[in-house]
Amino acid sequence: MGRPGKLTGEPCRIPGAPLWVAVAPKKNADTAAALSAATGDLLKFPEMQSELRILLTGEPAFRSGVGAALGASWTVVEAANVAEAADALLAARPAAVVLDLRPGGDGHAVCRRIKGAAQTRLLPIIGFVASDGEATVAALDAGADHVTHWPPKGAELQARIRAVLRNRAATERLEDATQVIFALANAVEAKDAYTEGHTERVGALADEVGRLAGLDDETREALRQGGVLHDIGKIGIPNEIINKAGRLTDKERIVMNKHPMIGERICEPLKSLRHLLPIIRWHHERLDGTGYPDGIKGSKFPLPPQILQLSDIYDAITTDRPYHRARTRAGAIEFLYGEAKKGWRDAELVGLVARAAESLGLGRTREDDIPPPPAPMGQWRTE
Ligand SMILES: [Fe+2]
Ligand SMILES: [Fe+2]
Repeated sequence: MGRPGKLTGEPCRIPGAPLWVAVAPKKNADTAAALSAATGDLLKFPEMQSELRILLTGEPAFRSGVGAALGASWTVVEAANVAEAADALLAARPAAVVLDLRPGGDGHAVCRRIKGAAQTRLLPIIGFVASDGEATVAALDAGADHVTHWPPKGAELQARIRAVLRNRAATERLEDATQVIFALANAVEAKDAYTEGHTERVGALADEVGRLAGLDDETREALRQGGVLHDIGKIGIPNEIINKAGRLTDKERIVMNKHPMIGERICEPLKSLRHLLPIIRWHHERLDGTGYPDGIKGSKFPLPPQILQLSDIYDAITTDRPYHRARTRAGAIEFLYGEAKKGWRDAELVGLVARAAESLGLGRTREDDIPPPPAPMGQWRTE
């Protein structure tokens, strides 16, 4: 796999690899030289611009036309087709993409590929079309964020790139913040030695139940993320309560029951997590209104938190915990049907959990494979 060329101003072409064209950012080079003279090379000027790579995909005339219009402000990485573009996306991690979306090329395929993959979905794309009307609509439908006309006008193209890069910087800050929240959720899981892998399994099970329930991809993705984040509020619950083997006192129960609201408060400031808030807040509600924290009832209790909750309980009671002996898959489903009979859960969803758990192979099927609990039996705890 080739690597981007160094900022020498010389094109660097590696056979069989994407065509890397390195363009020296002029201003930086001058500033670096001046600084270097002043500091005797003690201070190496960081070439910030060099990190901003623009992926250029299209036929040779397109690439050289756009390359010229871009001037010397960014490092340009060239790719002639979908395969080269895929390599370049991985190796060069461009900050923006400029595509030839005129008829006859691979542009639309590259565009769909970038927007179809979770890792590159947020990468801004500027697409060139030959004319207004249908071509613009097709380019936008393929996922282009900006559409402009061939041939490129230097100042306009540069301004567009500056604009998409500004937006990207803001998105990246958001992504960073989201990652911190997910890291925090993993740290919470680590607090409890008995719940290793719980959040990931809950997410996977909820996603599969969502698929069986016919939910759309976006909701299923929310279920997967909700699986990881649902108990993040436990960060605010003392370890003695979380890891207590045995029955929680009334006081401890009150503290423990605060974790959905604490979790919601942690995630609330991040817009990118807003759609997960109902899952986090309501994952301990019951259909008959006897759950917490809000006591919502019946149709007020949305499907995604119901699915997450069933997956959560299923995983909690099929895994070894200090306060209970795990149940088999069949035992757990029986337990959930029992809760459905009490009016707490939806029996149809329990049936989907049974199918999903079987297809994912979650939970043990033989009673003999389950060890006794490490301490005397406590109460069933499903948080
Ligand atoms: Fe919980
Ligand atoms: Fe949980």
